[in-house]
Amino acid sequence: MNIILVGFMGCGKSSTARFLSKQYGFRILDTDRIIEKKLKLTIKEIFKQKGESFFRKTESEIIRTNLSFCDNCVISTGGGLPCYLDNMEILKNIGWVFHLDMEFNDIISRVKNKTNRPLLENIESARELFEQRKSCYDKAHFRIDANQSTQRIAEDIMSKINS
Ligand code: S3P
Repeated sequence: MNIILVGFMGCGKSSTARFLSKQYGFRILDTDRIIEKKLKLTIKEIFKQKGESFFRKTESEIIRTNLSFCDNCVISTGGGLPCYLDNMEILKNIGWVFHLDMEFNDIISRVKNKTNRPLLENIESARELFEQRKSCYDKAHFRIDANQSTQRIAEDIMSKINS
């Protein structure tokens, strides 16, 4: 059984994945880190040097290859990943998909380091992206209120799985 975390940038996917891994023993995987390792470039460098469409292509390849063998994993995904091609359907076949849901203004006030996220550099286009992606995130198996402590988010996820 795998847990897959989706949601907009800054909603707490990585910290929730770390908590679930530490507390419940899941193996942790992060699609952005897999891509950075594979290309030996940071996300920011990939966007700058290769462009966003190359990044999206790489994301799709990663979930079709690296993730299909997972078991007992918690997978943190890049914010846009489920919203391209049939990626959401693929994720739903790999495990239970949880949307960590948060209001845009709460996300912006939480995100301290905007410099390593190319798509957060312009706040108005980020807001537009947030609106566009709502219908995509709605396709997750479960919605979790992400505006609470990491521990509570993790507990909500575990209780959904166990019910
Ligand atoms: C992106 C989100 C980022 C990263 C890239 C693009 C997006 O991941 O994949 O900067 O399109 O929303 P986080 O959601 O972990 O910040």
